[in-house]
Amino acid sequence: MSDIAILTAPVFSTLANAAFAVRREVFVWEQKVPQEEELDHYDLTAIHYVAISEGDVVGTLRLIDMPEHTKIGRVAVRQAWRGRGIARKLIEKAMADKRASGKNRFYLTAQSDKLALYEKLGFVAFGPEFIDGGMPHRAMRDYDKATATLLD
Ligand SMILES: CC(C)(COP(=O)(O)OP(=O)(O)OC[C@H]1O[C@@H](n2cnc3c(N)ncnc32)[C@H](O)[C@@H]1OP(=O)(O)O)[C@@H](O)C(=O)NCCC(=O)NCCS
Repeated sequence: MSDIAILTAPVFSTLANAAFAVRREVFVWEQKVPQEEELDHYDLTAIHYVAISEGDVVGTLRLIDMPEHTKIGRVAVRQAWRGRGIARKLIEKAMADKRASGKNRFYLTAQSDKLALYEKLGFVAFGPEFIDGGMPHRAMRDYDKATATLLD
């Protein structure tokens, strides 16, 4: 596999705009998430990560600082680049950077058919299933795992 570089991208930069284009391709065109829900006000203050291969942005995610934890979201890899460990690299790098700044609690909401991806990265699902962007989701966290309970 060609080398993958993981970088942060300031909002309004060329790299962040390329990340937003990947998100539009993956979430709006492929998964039919309503366009008006895909970009939101969190994008202005989130930390955006991009995965770059051969000069192109091929994957992305964002981190949102919350009082109780850091939320990982909008994890997307272009179709042709999937299955090569790019989402794992993005998530591991973003979590390592946050941990280096003393933030150790991570949270996300996962599409219900993607739980295994995040379980491999140390997350457990909890709470009830809910619909977001037209798809079933579960909340997941990588802390207080013993008290994480799944509800019907
Ligand atoms: C989900 C997505 C981000 C995965 O990206 P990827 O780069 O292919 O994932 P990786 O190759 O890094 O996979 C990491 C691990 O998770 C597993 N995994 C990846 N996608 C998975 C899925 N859909 N279901 C279960 N496990 C999955 C892989 O097998 C791999 O396991 P391994 O490390 O033991 O080999 C990508 O398929 C995507 O963009 N999908 C559309 C958008 C989306 O659904 N985003 C997530 C919303 S919760």
